[in-house]
Amino acid sequence: IPVEPFDLVVFGATGDLAERKLLPALYQRQRAGQFSEPTRIIGSSRSAHTSEEYREIARQALTEHVASEDIDQDELERFIARLSYIPANARSGEGFEDLKAAIGDSDAIRAFYLAVAPGLFGDIVQQIDQHDLATPTSRIIVEKPIGRSLETAREVNATIGKVFDEQRIFRIDHYLGKETVQNLMALRFANALYEPLWNSAHIDHVQITVAESVGLEGRADYYDKAGALRDMVQNHILQLLCLVAMEAPASMDADAVRDEKLKVLRALRPITAHNSQKFTVRGQYRAGASAGGAVKGYAEELTEGQSNTETFVALKAEIENWRWAGVPFYLRTGKRLAARVSEIVIQFKPVPHSIFDEGAGKAVANQLVIRLQPDEGVKQWIMIKDPGPGGMRLRHVPLDMSFAESFDVRNPDAYERLIMDVIRGNQTLFMRRDEVEAAWRWIDPIVAAWEDGAQAVQAYTAGTWGPSASIALIERDGRTWHESI
Ligand code: BG6
Repeated sequence: IPVEPFDLVVFGATGDLAERKLLPALYQRQRAGQFSEPTRIIGSSRSAHTSEEYREIARQALTEHVASEDIDQDELERFIARLSYIPANARSGEGFEDLKAAIGDSDAIRAFYLAVAPGLFGDIVQQIDQHDLATPTSRIIVEKPIGRSLETAREVNATIGKVFDEQRIFRIDHYLGKETVQNLMALRFANALYEPLWNSAHIDHVQITVAESVGLEGRADYYDKAGALRDMVQNHILQLLCLVAMEAPASMDADAVRDEKLKVLRALRPITAHNSQKFTVRGQYRAGASAGGAVKGYAEELTEGQSNTETFVALKAEIENWRWAGVPFYLRTGKRLAARVSEIVIQFKPVPHSIFDEGAGKAVANQLVIRLQPDEGVKQWIMIKDPGPGGMRLRHVPLDMSFAESFDVRNPDAYERLIMDVIRGNQTLFMRRDEVEAAWRWIDPIVAAWEDGAQAVQAYTAGTWGPSASIALIERDGRTWHESI
C-alpha cells in the first residue's frame, strides 16, 4: 500500500549510512510501488555540491549497494529525479534558509533524518527550530548512539525533546526492523504452542548471540570510545532480550509494546562492582585468522597501538520477575569471531522422568533456535524414535524452517521497513525515550565496575569464539554455548 507523499530531509547525505543504507532502502521502496507523488528527498551536509552532483553521487551509491538484479534503469532514474541537495552548516546556520526555501510550504509529510555524528544532533535540531523548518506533524529520525551513559542520553533526549514531541521522535535500532526480529513476535504471539511454556517452569535458560566476523571497519574513532557493551548490548541485544522476555502486549500499538519492553529492562538485576567479575567477561581480539586470511589484532589497528576497549562481551543477565526468576539469559557479542551469526536459543528443561531403558539413550532437552542472520530460520529440536527395526532408540532432530528455502522473496533491509514506518507515523519498532534511558541505567554500573580497573580485557585470538572466560561463564552453571556453525 503506498504511503502518503513525503519530503525527507537527510542530514549527512554524503555519509556512509546515507549511501550504504538509506538511499538503497528508499529506492527499493519506490520500486515496490510505495511512493505517492510528489515525494521528494532532499540531501544536505556541509560539502558544497550541487543537486546535479549529488544525483551522480547517489547514482554511484545505488549501483554499488543495490543488488544488480534489483536495478531497473528507468526506476533508478525516476528515483534519482526525486533527489536534490542543499549544502548547510549546522554550527553556523549557513544554508538553512536555502533549505527552508527548498522545502517550501509543501503540506506533504515532513521528516528529518539525522544521519550524522551524534555530536551534531543538538546543533541541527536548533537550526531546524530557529529556521522554522518543522511543522506540527514533522518527524525526526535519529540513530544510535543516543548518548554514552544515562546522563548523556538524557541530555540528547532533552535537546531533541525541546523541538519535537515524543510522538514525533523516531529512534532507530535497526535490529527491530530486521525481518527475523519481527518474526520473533509472530512466533511468540501468533502461536498458542509456545506461550504456556514460555516461563521459568519450562525454560532452563536463554542464549542470545550476535557474533560478527568483521573487525573495526575503519570506525576506530567511534568504536574505541564505545566498546562492545555500548555499541551492541545497550541497544540491539537488550532489544532482543526484551522481545523474548516481555509479557504479551494487548496489541501491536507502539506504546503497548514499548510499555512491556520497558518493564523487562526495569526488572534486570543490576550488575555492579560486587558481581561484575562473576557475570561479565570482556575480551579484545589479538591477531589471528578471519574469513580465510590473517588479520591484525585490535590494538594494532589503532594509531595508539594499545587500548583497554572491549571488542567482545559475554554477560549473564537475570530478570527479576515472576515469569523469569531463576532463568539466566546468557548474552554474547563480539567482533572478529569465528563466524557471522546472530541467534536466539531457548533451552527448555528436560523431561522429568525417562520411561525408556538405557539402551534407548537419553532424551535431550528440547531447544528452539531462532536464527536471525545469516540463513534466517527457525529450528525446533525434538526427540523422535530412530527409524528402523533396531528397537527403541531416541534421536534428536530439528523441525527446520529456513526462510530462503521456504519462500522465494527478497529479504528486505531493516531500513526499508523503518523509514516507511516513520512516514506512516508508526512508532512500534522505534525506541521510546524511557526505554533508551532504562537500558543505560542497567549498562552504566557495568561500565563503572569495569572502569574501576578491576576487570581488564582478556585477549582472544581473532577467528575464535572469544576468550575462554566466556566459556567458563556458562560452563560454571553446567551449560554450554550453542554451537552456532
Ligand atoms: C551497529 C554497530 O549498530 O550494528 C556495528 O554499531 C555492528 O558495530 C552493526 O557491526 C551490526 O549490524 P548488522 O545488521 O550487520 O548485524
